[in-house]
Amino acid sequence: MQCKEREFGRLTDGRSVRLFSFECSDGMQLEITNYGGIITSVRLSDKNGIFDELCCGFPDLSNYLKPHPYFGALVGRYAGRIGGGRLPVGDEVYQLQLHDKHCHLHGGNTGFHTRLWSALLESDDTKAVLKLTYMSPHLEENYPGNLNVTATYTIFDNNRIDLCFEAETDRPTHLNLTNHAYFNLNGFRSSVGDHWLKVDADQVVELNEAMLPTGMLKPVKGSIFDFSELILLSSRLVPQTHELDHCFVLNQSRKDTPAVELFHNETGRSLKVYTDQPGVQVYSGNFLDGSLTGNDSKTYHKHGAICFETQHFADSPNQPSFPSTLLQPGQAFRASTTYLFEVRS
Ligand code: GLA
Repeated sequence: MQCKEREFGRLTDGRSVRLFSFECSDGMQLEITNYGGIITSVRLSDKNGIFDELCCGFPDLSNYLKPHPYFGALVGRYAGRIGGGRLPVGDEVYQLQLHDKHCHLHGGNTGFHTRLWSALLESDDTKAVLKLTYMSPHLEENYPGNLNVTATYTIFDNNRIDLCFEAETDRPTHLNLTNHAYFNLNGFRSSVGDHWLKVDADQVVELNEAMLPTGMLKPVKGSIFDFSELILLSSRLVPQTHELDHCFVLNQSRKDTPAVELFHNETGRSLKVYTDQPGVQVYSGNFLDGSLTGNDSKTYHKHGAICFETQHFADSPNQPSFPSTLLQPGQAFRASTTYLFEVRS
């Protein structure tokens, strides 16, 4: 495992932002910055030896300092939507910033994707460990509790990335963390319509018109959300009619089964995602509109990439029947996800 560190740029207050580069012996090249804990680049050869960028990202820090669609970022304190921005904790209700009139989204405008995390890099022959830490003060974005968060990326030589979150708080609060990376296994030569997707979920969280959970879980069987076998995505992505921006309820019996498998036949590349989280928000880049150009001068069009946001269900603080996201003082928060890239010949 080869690792390098360099300056990515500086924040307006002069703080240096770092960029960490990793090269696995199996060929994956990865870049992560401590600004927002963002994965800025994932590169890998295909079955014919063609080396491509597989992840939406920017070559310069300046693009990440402007609003962007959470490319590769750590998202918190609450990934996903919270209805009315209403965060009930015990007898109190904290009012969070509203993204539109209906909801709070992805931790607010100054969420974890905009924070400079402290970084510590360690490596040996076969793996590298990048430990990012951030102390989110009480009432940051109006969430209660001083929250110490650690996001540890472990990179293995077999093109595998583990992301493990740990956190503790000094007051009861809600926490739901994820990474919002966007992937295209064909190096952005086509939309993800020619990718195949499998999701290990028998149910999906039912949404209302405001894209908020109704509180019900719907069986996927026989519906457009049935990805129990590999399905060609073009058959399930019809602009305005049906697109993916839904939380799948992961089957809990799976142990070592991937939560998600994404496959691209022409290149032979696949991505498997494993997680201990109850859900995965599958988002097919519906709001990408060709206005952003990133690594290798690729322009990001609608359905040009897909996200697998492993996490708790949206709006859990207001949905008593959903698994709880409440974190108590003295309780250790832990959530982990693995991304494994493979190439089939
Ligand atoms: C999540 C949301 C989407 C959108 C994207 C970012 O996936 O569910 O609606 O906000 O993030 O653009």
